[in-house]
Amino acid sequence: MDRDLIATGDEVRDWETLMLLYNSALKEINTKIEILRDEFENTNHYNPIEHVTSRLKTAQSIVRKLKNEGHETDLVSMQRYISDIAGVRIVCSFTSDIYKIADMISSQDDVNVLVIKNYIASPKPNGYKSYHMIVSIPIFLSDGPRNVKVEIQIRTIAMDFWATLEHKIHYKFEGNTPKVITDELTEVAAMINTIDERMQALNDTVKSFNATT
Ligand code: GTP
Ligand code: MG
Repeated sequence: MDRDLIATGDEVRDWETLMLLYNSALKEINTKIEILRDEFENTNHYNPIEHVTSRLKTAQSIVRKLKNEGHETDLVSMQRYISDIAGVRIVCSFTSDIYKIADMISSQDDVNVLVIKNYIASPKPNGYKSYHMIVSIPIFLSDGPRNVKVEIQIRTIAMDFWATLEHKIHYKFEGNTPKVITDELTEVAAMINTIDERMQALNDTVKSFNATT
């Protein structure tokens, strides 16, 4: 058996062990983010992180995703194919902060970056922008470490505003959002992008003032 997979044959116990592992991984990542934030505050007197949210995927939504992707709906399959059972979202002020935070997390020795999807450099056709990393971190159980996957999404407040609303609209229309609405959303995404660029430029100007005064 794959060393990182939990499969003793006792499904209930395995499910509980797995959820404990994913929850522990969320705690570890949240602590890392908190430490980075404190350090930033301490050395730069500046906090690039606006807020952080995290969640565990529900059993129902894990099963739905496995079925949609044509996989078996068992515990081994879920560990293998679902990368966002543990998910953390970091919302920061400026686009430049996103890369700083991503670098600071991925350069840590116990963080193994498995996948990067940079929807800031290459936005989705609908206008979605965000920086995604699937990482794995070791969680130490009494019989040794297990590598646990966590999806980390990093985006600006403006990107988050758009993504949250788009998600709600998509949900409301159960995936069949009328074209007039998706077109409008894509246009709004372009406006949001302009705002992000202007805010970033404004911040750079503010910094140059600080440097000269
Ligand atoms: P899933 O979408 O999770 O099946 O995996 P994927 O391989 O498509 O990964 P991706 O990185 O594209 O998306 C993962 C997560 O990003 C999703 O679960 C959402 O939280 C978010 N996301 C991706 N695309 C969009 C989008 O168009 N709109 C919104 N609001 N969120 C998105
Ligand atoms: Mg997707």
